[in-house]
This record gives sequence, C-alpha cells and structure tokens, in this order.
Amino acid sequence: MADFPLPRPAADWWRTAAIYQVYVRSFADGDGDGTGDLAGVRARLPYLADLGVDALWFTPWYLSPLADGGYDVADYRTIDPAFGTLAEAEKLIAEARELGIRTLVDIVPNHVSDRHAWFRAALAAGPGSPERELFHFRPGRGEHGELPPGDWPSQFNGAGTWTRVPDGEWYLHLFTPQQPDLNWDHPAVRREHEEVLRFWFERGVAGVRIDSAALLAKDPALPDLAGRSPEPWPGETHPYIDRDELHAVYRSWRAIADEYGAIFVGEVWLPDSERFARYLRPDELHTAFNFSFLSCPWDAGRLRTSITETLAEHAPVGAPATWVLCNHDVTRTVTRYGRADTGFDFAAKAFGTPTDLELGTRRARAAALLTLALPGAVYVYQGEELGLPEADVPIGRIQDPMHFRSGGTDPGRDGCRVPLPWTAEPWNEPWLPQPADWPAYAADRQDGDPDSMLTLYRTALGLRRAAAGFGGGALEWLNAPPGVLAFTRPDGLLCVANLSGGPVALPAHTSLLLGSSALDDTGLLPQDTAVWLRT
Ligand code: NOJ
Repeated sequence: MADFPLPRPAADWWRTAAIYQVYVRSFADGDGDGTGDLAGVRARLPYLADLGVDALWFTPWYLSPLADGGYDVADYRTIDPAFGTLAEAEKLIAEARELGIRTLVDIVPNHVSDRHAWFRAALAAGPGSPERELFHFRPGRGEHGELPPGDWPSQFNGAGTWTRVPDGEWYLHLFTPQQPDLNWDHPAVRREHEEVLRFWFERGVAGVRIDSAALLAKDPALPDLAGRSPEPWPGETHPYIDRDELHAVYRSWRAIADEYGAIFVGEVWLPDSERFARYLRPDELHTAFNFSFLSCPWDAGRLRTSITETLAEHAPVGAPATWVLCNHDVTRTVTRYGRADTGFDFAAKAFGTPTDLELGTRRARAAALLTLALPGAVYVYQGEELGLPEADVPIGRIQDPMHFRSGGTDPGRDGCRVPLPWTAEPWNEPWLPQPADWPAYAADRQDGDPDSMLTLYRTALGLRRAAAGFGGGALEWLNAPPGVLAFTRPDGLLCVANLSGGPVALPAHTSLLLGSSALDDTGLLPQDTAVWLRT
C-alpha cells in the first residue's frame, strides 16, 4: 500500500465519521468546460477540510458513456477523461489525506456499461460463447424468440429488463439497457471485482461504497415473478433481491479490505431489519446506508421510531448506524421538507409539486442538528451544506434515464445534481443549468455569514468533531411534549428538536451550544428548530 500520512489515527474512524459525498460532474469545474472534474475537487480540498469532514465518497469517476451518470462503468482502472487522469486521482487521494481526509470510491458490481470490454466481447462472440456467460444472455420466448425471456420489471420506472441483440438473444439489465447485469455465479466476475478492490486500495483509498449491494445474485433459472411483488419477499427467497449467496461475496471482500484497513458502505434498501443487519455482521460490510431515516417524513413520532429501530437493528451485529438526509438520487432536503408530503418516495416524484422553501430550509437546518447529534456515521451530500433546493431542470435539458423511462412523467434525479454555486457567477455553460436565483446560495456569499447554512454545517461539524459525546456511545430519549424529540448523549450533551405546532420550553441545561434558529424572545424553542445543549 502506498505510504501516505494517515489522518486521525483512530482505527475505528468510520464508526463516527462525517463523510461528504462528491458527485464529481457537478462539484467544481477546474478547466472551465462546464463539467466538474478532479482538478476542481483538488482546488476545493481546503473548503472540505474547513467544513470538517473526515472522508469523501466519490460517485463513479471511471470511464463511462454516462448513460446513468457514471453508474455504467466501462473501465474501473481508467478515470473518465472528462474528469481527469488516474495520476490526478492518485494526487487527489494523497492531497486529501494530507488534510486529514480519507477517500471512498464507488463500485457498481451488479452491472457494467454496454461499452465495457467484456460486454463488447460477449456481443461479438455470439450465442453459446464463454464470453456471454459473464452476463445473463437467454433466447427469447415466442415462436421466433421475439418475446423477452422473463418478466422482471426494471429498477428504473417503466420499461422492462431485457434487450434483444442483433443475433436474436436477449440480455438482462435490472436498470437501463446500457447497464447489462453481470453473472455473479461466474468465478471471473468475482475475481475481477476482487482485483478492482485491490487496485483502488493500493492507491490509498480508505473505503468503498457498494452500489445496489443486495441485487447482484440471481436465481440461475431467472424465474418469472408471475404476478408476485418485485419488492423483497419476507421469509422467502426472492429471485434477485437479497439472496443468501451474496454474503459469501461480501465475506471475501471483507478479507481483502481488512488487509488494507479499508471499509465498506453498502447501498442496501431492505425493509426487513433482520435481513438488513446480516450484511453488517462482523466479517461482512462495516456499514450500510440508512434509507429508512432518509425517507422518513418530518414527523417527530416517525423520526423517533426510525431512529430507535435503526439503533436496535444495528446493535446485535455491533455495527454503527449511518444517517443520511439526501444523496444524488433523492429530492434535496430543503425542498422535500417544504412540501405537503415531507417523506421521500421514488414513485411519488412529480413535476410542479408546490413547495415552501422558507419552511423547508428552516426544517432542513433543524434536521441537520438532529442528524449530526445521532450516534454513528453521517453523510453530507454536496450542496446540502449550502441549503440548495431541488432545481427545476428545464425538460429539454434533463439527462437522467429515470425521466425518459417514465415516459416523461418523472422529473428524474437531475434536480439534485445541478452544479454547485461556488460564486455568484455561474459555471461556464454548466452541463445542467443553474437556476437564476442560485447566486444567493453561492458558497462565497455564505462564507462568514453567521446565519447561513454553510456556517451552521461548519459549526455543527466542528462541534461534533471536538466533543467526544457526539460520536459513538448511547442515546437516551427524554420525556418531551408531543411533537418534540429530546435525547441525551454522553458528556452531558442534549439535543432537542421541536417538530410540534408551537414553541416549547427547553429542558434544564447549563449552556446552549448551537441552535438551528434563534430562541424566541421569551427563551422558548420555536417550531421547526433544534438545539444542542450541555447539561
Ligand atoms: C444506485 C445509484 O445510487 C444510482 O444513481 C444508480 O442509478 C443505480 N444504483 C444503478 O447503478
């Protein structure tokens, strides 16, 4: 392994880390071509160090035709030229480490791009070839094989999961046709991914985010759902979700990660908490994203249940929880919390949903303090610290396949992927247009403003880092009025979030460390406000 200076020495850094998600294409544009790149990230490393994050998770930065924003990887060992070079990625990893920031990369094991060398070879080699065995090729149904070989629906709305190639065979893709699914029963598929992990660990990468981590293994018969739910089947084996064979894959990955002291975070959307926790057993993944919390409405009872259940499901396997408010796939927090439906559901996305951004921003500030006070690791998605709303991307500029595959009814995910406003000046023709009012959110305008979202995140992340009580350790709920969440952490730390319909009195405390908004004139905690107190 390359000899880089280690940031903070703790071996268990990941148990309480604040990890910042970088969607490279939209983070910072170093060469002025309208697309974010590694030069842009390198130039902004001091900003990230100042923000107080422990690690960066980069969404895929590899060679990709970008049919699905980089989740269609053509070559894991090459950085996409739009972003830079492998040498630059190595420099970036090293420079970040010098600032005390670790790097996580994104691995997409369920599928590759249809431009990946393996898939091109499979197409060229034809039916029955060993090259096709790396994927799921099948003859079609119907008299002339003109019907798809199966009935699984796409993970992306609308269309199906089979595409026919010119020689008449069909191949499986749970996402877009440009993302053929790999056959995880094939030893070469396993071997290749183990080598890819080593490739990045050798370059000083401290961890890996695993895309669609519960989908790789398939029933080899690819049986029809025949009207049954495409969602997980509690108590029964599903043909492609959360199959038991997956655990052997992750055990072998864990052994490799342990050689390098590296960690995993799995993208595991599973409603069954016992099944979810299996991925977090001590010899499997270190952590997984908490989608229950991310999807939860702004409702004290629902949030408390989500927090309590999260902690309870992680406890038996000894894994830390993760807390996430948004990412590159979901509606930005200030927008979501400003709507009538404050939860997140892919199926409910629509154009023109009325939004009260002032209310949403107030709640998002409170949500930030609530989240950062919880025990475990937290993820901050780029722009969350600027309080960016979901952008309305003009229809003609939308690029997300989710939009097209819905027949144009789903706005897709571009609204949370618009390039960040660093200054009041927009990027040079950004790949997605920035809304006209975004100069108001520019990082340089927020810098130093005591009331800005950026200042709130900087202060909160700084306090969280400095005060031992915010990391691991217990959370104890306090009795609180209806609609109020109040809990203690070690070292006399206390978090109170008021989601009720009016102001409430604060519990006894000795000092107020931080508030998402000011207390009212009588010292009460206003609605949609959270505070950190010391007792
Ligand atoms: C989950 C990723 O977060 C999303 O952006 C992507 O489209 C799918 N997996 C498919 O790779």
